[in-house]
Amino acid sequence: MLPETLNWDNRTLFILDQRKIPLATSYLACSHYEEVALAIEEMAIRGAPAIGIAAAYGVVLASLEGMESSKKALERLSRTRPTAVNLFWALGRMRKVMDSADKNHLFEALLEEARHIHQEDRQINMAIGQHGSNLLQGRSVIMTHCNAGALATGGYGTALGVIRKLQESQGNVNVYACETRPVLQGSRLTSWELHEDGIDVTVICDNMAALVMKQDSVDAVIVGADRVASNGDVANKIGTYGLAVLASFHHIPFFVASPISTFDMTLGTGMDIPIEERDGKEIRLLAGKRLIPDNIKVFNPAFDVTPAQLISAIITEKGIIARPDAGNIDQFFQALGKE
Ligand code: MRU
Repeated sequence: MLPETLNWDNRTLFILDQRKIPLATSYLACSHYEEVALAIEEMAIRGAPAIGIAAAYGVVLASLEGMESSKKALERLSRTRPTAVNLFWALGRMRKVMDSADKNHLFEALLEEARHIHQEDRQINMAIGQHGSNLLQGRSVIMTHCNAGALATGGYGTALGVIRKLQESQGNVNVYACETRPVLQGSRLTSWELHEDGIDVTVICDNMAALVMKQDSVDAVIVGADRVASNGDVANKIGTYGLAVLASFHHIPFFVASPISTFDMTLGTGMDIPIEERDGKEIRLLAGKRLIPDNIKVFNPAFDVTPAQLISAIITEKGIIARPDAGNIDQFFQALGKE
């Protein structure tokens, strides 16, 4: 059984510290929104949906000190990480509740909303898993990048949710997890999650993906998303774009699993997505040991953008958008609006 990624208990948010996995499973106990903000910035918790959920609970903690503090929390938490739109989506939901709640029951109203966001996410991922596993039926060698699993969400995972459902329905799934330098979400988190669930997983260094695709006839690549622009361009963990180019060259379908909350329909293309650049220390140090001196430059973008034309389909909780582009994404959302 995987431990919960986050857990609210007795006016405290417990965050599983993902920096320590797989060597230790320990929780940070947060009783102030600043602790939640730091946990997000320092990537104790990471993954687009999980960041949004943690931030929502951060606002709940602030509300214990009243409305002014809740407003400050919205502002502080929105400055933690810029790329994952789920953060701003979740804070937007909390802001709406703040604006309409009875001020004497602000804490209760915000806690209820944060719990909804948390619980809904698991249901959404189960639905993504079902749609994705129907789409991927018959494919058994799957490559993934970073961690879009239970750890990155309210449970079950998006890309790993599809893999879990596929394993459940057809068995014999073999996963290649790219290690995902520099933070190693693939080798530390994805391999751990899948192994705990009894799913066959092989870790490869990022620069081995081309060879594996060529030699081992990978059946599909599936990744998560941090933000999807209205034309279908997808921001996800650095290295995703390279994998999509490789998949295209090797005629391997490339899928993105993404909840609707990860779409940012205000952005025309992926060029408009803000890309986080993180501290060069993540590259300079490996397992705490310095490899690169400070007088040598490093470049550390945390995400890249995969153009829509390299994506075979985006799998959402409401169904599949095949060959995504501005037209069919617009149609998809119009149809949803009529539901
Ligand atoms: O920097 P991270 O670890 O937060 O990046 C995470 C990813 O890129 C995930 O693929 C994405 O957030 C989707 S998680 C369901």
